[in-house]
Amino acid sequence: MRLDKFVSYALNISRSDSRHIIGAGRIKVNGRIVMKSDFSVDETRDAVDFDDERLAYRRFLYFMLNKPRGYVTSTRDPLHPTVLDLAGDYSKYNLFMTGRLDIDTEGFVLLTNDGKLAHKITSPKNNCRKKYYLLTEEGFGEEDIQLCREGFPIRDGKGRTVKTRPAELEILSDAEAYLTIYEGKHHQIKQMCRVLGKTLKYLKRIQIGPVALDPALKPGEYRPLTDEEINKLKNQFTLIAHSNKL
Ligand code: URA
Repeated sequence: MRLDKFVSYALNISRSDSRHIIGAGRIKVNGRIVMKSDFSVDETRDAVDFDDERLAYRRFLYFMLNKPRGYVTSTRDPLHPTVLDLAGDYSKYNLFMTGRLDIDTEGFVLLTNDGKLAHKITSPKNNCRKKYYLLTEEGFGEEDIQLCREGFPIRDGKGRTVKTRPAELEILSDAEAYLTIYEGKHHQIKQMCRVLGKTLKYLKRIQIGPVALDPALKPGEYRPLTDEEINKLKNQFTLIAHSNKL
């Protein structure tokens, strides 16, 4: 593996930042400073140090991105920019986008090349929680909270009628609410609002599983997940698997 790739994975930084660090003579391979980005390292044997700190090789990258309106969550689109266009250098890393958002929806998109975790998050059988902030014209009432709790019919992606899983509606003001769902049917929140007779004016995903979108991220910005956030995302499935066995 190229040294710049190893360093960018190990430090969860971009390839250009990694080249910069290498060029500055801050990386040692087996005790010797190496300043060539294309130097070949064996990640299973070579000792790579950054400022004398041993680097552990990480295979996977994880980012939270705050998707702005007007961007699509697909890898390519003939008409619109994609969230990968916002990911700069990382767009070359075969990142998956977990959990699609509509072009006019903002908020948390998880970008990762960890296909196993991405699959777990999107698989309907894992009931992964997704929390949204909604702004509607009419606002919600007690009866809407009850309906969301009980579930009601919407359409799945194939046009079949299905009942929504119990969802949690939390009223914040006359116009604002949080809605937490545990599945991801096609345009689910929009469909739910339509059935409840609400005009949705703004939609933003603010949480995936146990990890909340960092409020410091402006639309279009992203940052690596912390180790704690990565562990929380992974551990939620261990807990789900455990409770399914009980
Ligand atoms: N539900 C929707 O209707 N749209 C989204 O983008 C996400 C959830």
